[in-house]
Amino acid sequence: MKKYSICIVGGGSRYTPDMLAMLCNQKGRFPLKKIVLYDIESERQEVVGKYAKILFKEYYPELEEVVYTTDEKKAFQDIDFALMQIRAGRLKMREKDEKISLKHGCLGQETCGAGGFAYGLRSVPAIIDLIKNIRTYSPKCWILNYSNPAAIVAEATKRVFPKDYRIINICDMPIAIMDVYASVLGLNRRDLEPKYFGLNHFGWFTHILDKKTGEDYLPKLREILKTPVDVQTEPLFQEKSWKSTFEFMSQMINDYDEYLPNTYLQYYLYPEKMKNKENPEYTRANEVMDGNEKETYNRMNKIISLGKIHGTEYEINSEVGCHAEYIVDLATAIANNTNEIFLIITENNGVINNISPDAMVEVPCRVGSNGVEPLIVGNIPTFYKGLIENQYAYEKLAVDACLEGSYQKALQALVLNRTVINTDTAKELLKDLIEVNKGYWNKLH
Ligand code: NAD
Ligand code: G6P
Ligand code: MN
Repeated sequence: MKKYSICIVGGGSRYTPDMLAMLCNQKGRFPLKKIVLYDIESERQEVVGKYAKILFKEYYPELEEVVYTTDEKKAFQDIDFALMQIRAGRLKMREKDEKISLKHGCLGQETCGAGGFAYGLRSVPAIIDLIKNIRTYSPKCWILNYSNPAAIVAEATKRVFPKDYRIINICDMPIAIMDVYASVLGLNRRDLEPKYFGLNHFGWFTHILDKKTGEDYLPKLREILKTPVDVQTEPLFQEKSWKSTFEFMSQMINDYDEYLPNTYLQYYLYPEKMKNKENPEYTRANEVMDGNEKETYNRMNKIISLGKIHGTEYEINSEVGCHAEYIVDLATAIANNTNEIFLIITENNGVINNISPDAMVEVPCRVGSNGVEPLIVGNIPTFYKGLIENQYAYEKLAVDACLEGSYQKALQALVLNRTVINTDTAKELLKDLIEVNKGYWNKLH
């Protein structure tokens, strides 16, 4: 069996430890010879790197090389897969995105609305730069990208690298939601096959099929989920914001009489209500910095001081979050040409027949060693078509604004966004966002 070399780009991410554990779990199906962690912040990289060395010594002694570095050449030379999860400006800038949006009376959210727009204009230049560098050293490696806001990042990678089918943009939200469906049905996510359409963080499940019997569980799920469920699928979802998000699924299902919506639609369909839930002094970025990020780093630092994992309370088991599972499953499907179905952000080209062919849609795709092949969706009803076309126009203009350095396009993008709308508000937002994003954003003229 071929052994692969991979690089985790954004190695300091709080999702990296789970990914490393998942790579250990998958070594029978996806054997590796080299793992590189790459980040621009050496202090973060060092903690994860030292932790990784301990982990692999105990759980993956077959690995020939474990490297952590801030040197691009060392990181990207001769790799087969790059798993990307960078956050340009880190959580400190996410905090600014969320708080500036709220200050101007708009929703403050990581990937949606004005916050997501600001994040997009930081991410796109950073990701383009990284991909160019990766391509210099490993022209044919697979680039599996989680970096957000994935809708805007995907639109940009499509434009800048139009022929490069080895760049694949993904999101873990649909499968995190499917874990919830599986748990209320008493099944496993892997027993279920989704039918789904939309844009990233902007889509609907139309069927949830039993892989064996073909039964569609959607009607049953809609009935069950009309009452809020207590979601226990991941420890992260016990945090206040996630609890509230999963509780709100029931409201959307009661209000709309078909399909099952992605949780992110709450921000577009109820922007006022969502804004009013926020504390302008303490947003989700604060919750993450004080919660999950701190816990993840504390755990790694504890393990580093113990010098071992076996026989301690930090023993690795088969339980890792769906985020890590999904990206490693995807790499495994490519490596082994399994042709399994994954939800992926890909160019529409008629898959959703009655929306723009160049839209980057999120739909089920077959995945194998030749890449991604989307499955036909067909025509979608007017309500969804209207929402999607408006949102895609926003995403397109956000990327135009960034790549062309156009203030006018930035303004148009924000005004199109359902969480902003007013021109005066958009101008005020832009004034503040331009100011704090100096050094991250391309200049707008
Ligand atoms: P984080 O801030 O904890 O970690 C990101 C790391 O990226 C940091 O260590 C940072 O130093 C590093 N980084 C920033 N710019 C970089 C660059 N140019 N090159 C290399 N490294 C760089 O963030 P996180 O909360 O762990 O999230 C990581 C990313 O994953 C974010 O973009 C987040 O939005 C995304 N994410 C996406 C999904 C999805 O569904 N697509 C799900 C979860 C997280
Ligand atoms: C889900 C989404 C991601 C998003 C994350 C935010 O996983 O799919 O795109 O980045 O949630 O979670 P957080 O815990 O950082 O608020
Ligand atoms: Mn996502």
